[in-house]
Amino acid sequence: MTVLVTGAAGFVGSHLCESLLDDGFEVRGVDSFTEYYGRERKEANLAGLRGRARFRLLEEDLATATLEPLVEDVDVVFHLAGQPGVRGSWGQDFTVYLQRNVLVTQRLLESLRDRPVHKFVYASSSSVYGDAESLPTSETVVPRPLSPYGVTKLAGEHLCELYRKGFAVPTASLRFFTVYGPRQRPDMAFARLVEAATSGQPFPLYGDGSQTRDFTYVADVVSALRRAADSAFTGVANVGGGSRVSMRDVLSIVGELCGRPVATVDMGPQRGDVRHTSADTSLARYGFGYVPRTSLRQGLGAMVEYSQQAVLEGAS
Ligand code: NAD
Ligand code: UGA
Repeated sequence: MTVLVTGAAGFVGSHLCESLLDDGFEVRGVDSFTEYYGRERKEANLAGLRGRARFRLLEEDLATATLEPLVEDVDVVFHLAGQPGVRGSWGQDFTVYLQRNVLVTQRLLESLRDRPVHKFVYASSSSVYGDAESLPTSETVVPRPLSPYGVTKLAGEHLCELYRKGFAVPTASLRFFTVYGPRQRPDMAFARLVEAATSGQPFPLYGDGSQTRDFTYVADVVSALRRAADSAFTGVANVGGGSRVSMRDVLSIVGELCGRPVATVDMGPQRGDVRHTSADTSLARYGFGYVPRTSLRQGLGAMVEYSQQAVLEGAS
């Protein structure tokens, strides 16, 4: 089996590639090393991948690359490349979101129209819901994004549905709910929080800390991606972590794990941030057997351990 993973040097993409290689797949990774965060972090994400016999990384921008050689003889496409980040998607930068999240998705789908690909799995987002009208939120709730980022992720999903229904491309769009774990993107809350806790710096807290998220551990997301690819499921499904926790509660868990309380600096509410998220994952469970396995405390523990190890390795 040969699989294509777009965004292979990213947070989720690099974990997915490791899991696929461990199980003997030929993995063709593609990444353009966008400037969203530093190349050195993406190179570190790739440390467990480079040099492995069945892994090949192509440095290409999917907005302009010739896609035929990339998708040639591929059984499954995991499309994770994109411009992430909810709060930075306002203003001039929206063109980047449009290109990386909408145009690239359309180009990839177009390149698969006449190919016998088994599955195209698209990394969608809980941000498509905005402030959802009911919690936990099922896929039947009408999406009303609160950020331009969410609008582009929803457009990507609609494109998947169009190519699924119009051209029989077997697409599965998975709405990830705030993914965390080792190597999390540096703009995200837990990466900053663990960094703050280990360095003794204050954590920049947005809003009043009572906002909640259905945080999802990265290994659970990898399991959802792989199960969706292996199954007959097509369509749209939520992928959540199994519980809803406030930022205040997360702060105290990280304080306990690190042995000292984490100080905060109040940064005020951020435009585009939703108040609460909570995934109804019944469809993912019935559709492809997805059940989240990692508790928040276990997952945060793994992040703290990874960060402490990195500090030790940096010092030696
Ligand atoms: P990430 O930024 O770490 O990874 C994305 C990768 O895609 C980066 O390495 C980037 O260089 C690459 N990329 C972007 N545009 C590209 C292009 N045009 N051509 C080639 N490569 C390109 O982000 P992540 O957190 O790993 O997220 C992966 C995907 O999952 C994204 O599509 C994101 O929208 C989606 N998602 C993430 C979360 C989360 O909590 N991390 C939640 C919901 C959805
Ligand atoms: C995350 C990802 O960044 C998006 O790419 C993804 O699409 C989205 O999840 C999703 O689930 O769809 P977000 O929920 O904002 O977005 O994740 P974090 O950046 O980890 O933020 C979590 C909470 O912490 C938010 O309430 C945010 O306001 C807060 N936060 C974040 C802070 O208080 N301080 C920070 O420095 C960063």
